[in-house]
Amino acid sequence: MAFTVAIDGPAAAGKGTLSKALAAHLGFAHLDTGLLYRAVGAKLLLGVEPLEAAETLTAEDLAADNLRTAEVADAASKVAVIPEVRAALVDFQRAFARRDGGAVLDGRDIGTVICPEAEAKLFVTASPEVRAERRWLELRARDPKVAFDAVLADVRERDERDMNRASAPLKPAEDAVMLDTSDLGIEAALKAAIEIVEARMQALKA
Ligand code: CDP
Ligand code: CDP
Repeated sequence: MAFTVAIDGPAAAGKGTLSKALAAHLGFAHLDTGLLYRAVGAKLLLGVEPLEAAETLTAEDLAADNLRTAEVADAASKVAVIPEVRAALVDFQRAFARRDGGAVLDGRDIGTVICPEAEAKLFVTASPEVRAERRWLELRARDPKVAFDAVLADVRERDERDMNRASAPLKPAEDAVMLDTSDLGIEAALKAAIEIVEARMQALKA
């Protein structure tokens, strides 16, 4: 039976970490949909036309080791404004969402566009400063010279682009539960998310 958990929210809110742990807890499959856009963005940086890249993505593309860099994140949010690129990635995400045995997907438009019928929807947020600090700590491990202010500026710019695009903009679904993790560690955020999903499971059984 299908049970979809849709996790959306802005950059570095902790969606991926939370989704992975939640999926492990529930025994569900997990898809980080940002990776699809990052893989298309990485191809763009190599000179491949974005629609062609989206239509021909391979497992190898999704495993490229540069996908977590700031350059690729920026390119991802640029290709993500192109409606045809988004459309080319829909079927794969929908099929994943409705697979038997349950799925957790995280991204920007899972609860609004990819799977509006998702049984549980969370919108994970944190202040821009907290999110930038989290991302800075990660990026600094790859490059000690990376400046906090530059990461904060990138996060703000990407949020702006994601929220203001015409096609599938970042916004909470009407029936999403908001989870602000500004003051929550990973364990506490996971506990809150588990409670939200289990409450939905109980409600659907009743
Ligand atoms: O997927 P998204 O960009 O929303 O965030 P992430 O990559 O899961 O998390 C960004 C960083 O924040 C990771 O290094 C996490 O360890 C850290 N973090 C978190 O995910 N959740 C918290 N409540 C606190 C920190
Ligand atoms: O990890 P972080 O939250 O920083 O970014 P991500 O989830 O890997 O997504 C990278 C970019 O892909 C975002 O800034 C969005 O522009 C785009 N994206 C999207 O448009 N729709 C999704 N479902 C997932 C990502």
